[in-house]
Amino acid sequence: MNQERNRADLIVGLQWGDEGKGKIVDHMAQTHDIVCRFAGGHNAGHTIVVDEKTYALHLIPSGVLNPNARNIVGNGVVLSPVDFIKEMSQFDDLEGRLFISDKAHLLLPYHALIDQAKELLKGDKAIGTTGKGIGPAYGDKIARVGHRVGELHHPEKLTDKIMHYFEENRAIFDVMGVASPKRDALLAELEGYRSVLSPYIVDTTLLVWKALESGDKMLLEGAQGTMLDIDHGTYPYVTSSTTVSAGACSGLGLNPKDIGKVTGIAKAYCTRVGNGPFPSEDFGEEGERLRKNGHEFGTTTGRPRRCGWFDAVAMKHAVRINGVDQIALMKLDVLDGFDEVKVCVAYEVDGKEIDYVPYDLEDATPVYKSFPGWEKTEGVRKFDDLPETAKTYIEALEAMVGARMGIISTSPQREDTIIRGEAE
Ligand code: IMP
Repeated sequence: MNQERNRADLIVGLQWGDEGKGKIVDHMAQTHDIVCRFAGGHNAGHTIVVDEKTYALHLIPSGVLNPNARNIVGNGVVLSPVDFIKEMSQFDDLEGRLFISDKAHLLLPYHALIDQAKELLKGDKAIGTTGKGIGPAYGDKIARVGHRVGELHHPEKLTDKIMHYFEENRAIFDVMGVASPKRDALLAELEGYRSVLSPYIVDTTLLVWKALESGDKMLLEGAQGTMLDIDHGTYPYVTSSTTVSAGACSGLGLNPKDIGKVTGIAKAYCTRVGNGPFPSEDFGEEGERLRKNGHEFGTTTGRPRRCGWFDAVAMKHAVRINGVDQIALMKLDVLDGFDEVKVCVAYEVDGKEIDYVPYDLEDATPVYKSFPGWEKTEGVRKFDDLPETAKTYIEALEAMVGARMGIISTSPQREDTIIRGEAE
């Protein structure tokens, strides 16, 4: 019976975000009937070029570029109406194929002001957020003082609630320099959001249940990465949502049995934007070379990304937490031309070597194993055509992290992808 059950495919980031999920998700979105976002907000982002036109996607699922796919923004998301409407304006045929959960939380302009003010107040302890208001919006949700997208249907009532929220928090907002909105302006703003968004606001939980029951192929598109997860990442230097595969259940109203194949996305090295522990970061010439070769600058904020070596300890943690069936290893070609390629195989903490991710990674130093490098993998489309040393590197990673690398990407081009298929 369970064998026949229709299940959703899931894509999830296994590192600190920016693993190159976009390339895989865009590809898979072409063959799925429904594509869903389940967590995060417009802190995520990737660009897609179709027929020489560039689209910037932050919150609208990648299925938007497949005219036959429906796209769902789930309840686990925080949605900034102003940014979402801007993103929507890139497309002119969204009605009937874009659906926003009435239970998703609103991220309003004051959340971004609070985010930026808090970061400033933190000084050298700043998280290095995207400044988009993600933490304050999720904070309000958990503190039960947030507002949901469905409330846009009643702008007067919502305006009163927000004005009350500002009154209650006036003393705190004064310290942060965040002014109260004027009632009339706030009402007009919310009415503006309602007039554009109301045709798209529905109970998406019912929609995903029905779609699965009717046999539709569903793709769940994760955002950020496992090491940025609110529970399993490098807290407090994390984002404020559940980025791991379990978040797809709570963020859409699915149950664990609804999840099918889990594809975890990982780069052949590591990057991180923002502050916080990153044991395998390389501060020298090699890190600089990874940044340059990999064009490692943030899509959402333009910040240079911190770069370093593949962290097999963190990857093993991510594979287990997400229930990864296969890894898509991205940007292998960025390692082309290195004499040797390093992998972090353990951490040293308090003079002891450990092979798991501890509660606090702040003082963990990496223990490396070196592998011989290779000349060129760029553009290779068959595993057998890879240089022997690259094959050895990949097979060693698989053994260390406990998952097969079923997809290997060797350039930004969609065709330059090795698909190895199922394990024999
Ligand atoms: P926030 O999500 O804006 O609160 O930022 C919290 C942390 O998550 C910061 O270190 C950000 O740089 C990081 N972050 C948030 N979104 C992304 C992403 O899409 N890619 C990589 N890092 C991200």
